[in-house]
Amino acid sequence: MLEIKDLRKSFGNNHVLNGFNLELFEGENLVIMGKSGSGKSVMIKCLVGLMQPDSGSIRVMGKDITKLNRVELDDIRTEIGFLFQGNALYDSMTVRENLEFPLRRHKQKFGDIKDTTPLVTEALESVGLAHTMDLMPSELSGGMQKRIALARALILKPRIILYDEPTSGLDPITSKEIIELMRRVQKQYKTSSLIITHDVDCARVVSERMILLVDGTNYAEGTFAELASSKDEQVKAFFK
Ligand SMILES: Nc1ncnc2c1ncn2[C@@H]1O[C@H](COP(=O)(O)OP(=O)(O)OP(=O)(O)O)[C@@H](O)[C@H]1O
Ligand SMILES: [Mg+2]
Repeated sequence: MLEIKDLRKSFGNNHVLNGFNLELFEGENLVIMGKSGSGKSVMIKCLVGLMQPDSGSIRVMGKDITKLNRVELDDIRTEIGFLFQGNALYDSMTVRENLEFPLRRHKQKFGDIKDTTPLVTEALESVGLAHTMDLMPSELSGGMQKRIALARALILKPRIILYDEPTSGLDPITSKEIIELMRRVQKQYKTSSLIITHDVDCARVVSERMILLVDGTNYAEGTFAELASSKDEQVKAFFK
């Protein structure tokens, strides 16, 4: 579903990604862990074409996204749901309008949908928040905002979902609910997911495979159990 090869990205002298590699297989939940500032968000932004890498190749469902024109890039983006770190809901729009936004943006692919209510309702129901349709984001708790952001990512029925820190800033109980929801969504929508987190509980529950990102490259890879029992000091530090 995704393939990143030798990805490099620097900002001046700050060499953030120094040859990062990744493969995401169909139906899989892959977790990337890395310290704050290690380049996880930069990597995910390169992946969706929001940031241009210095070098390396990024293939999404076989297509090299660094070589696509705007229309082609837009098209491939409908296959990818992106849950931003910090949600990125539009504050001045209702929940319904937030969910309608991707449908309107991708009119070419989905046509001019006259009645968006069934699609909005379905996406909201899958996160258990159908009753919030006419509320503003500011009227929702942090956990609810996360779930709305997930509903917005789901509305285009993407094949791939990218989660950037889905549980950060949430209390442990709300985090558990979000983690449960991520698992349900994977079953219901049969998506493949890339999950960026430094939440060890989240990684343990959702990951089928993990990559540890250190110094801009793949430091270690394996299942949660394999990495959690590693003798390597740098790996151990992640699980403390
Ligand atoms: N647009 C930008 N311009 C310049 N430097 C940037 C830019 N975006 C990110 N960086 C730098 O790249 C590095 C990695 O940032 P990034 O946001 O990817 O970290 P992260 O691993 O997602 O951290 P966190 O866990 O805190 O979210 C940081 O040193 C940051 O300052
Ligand atoms: Mg980040």
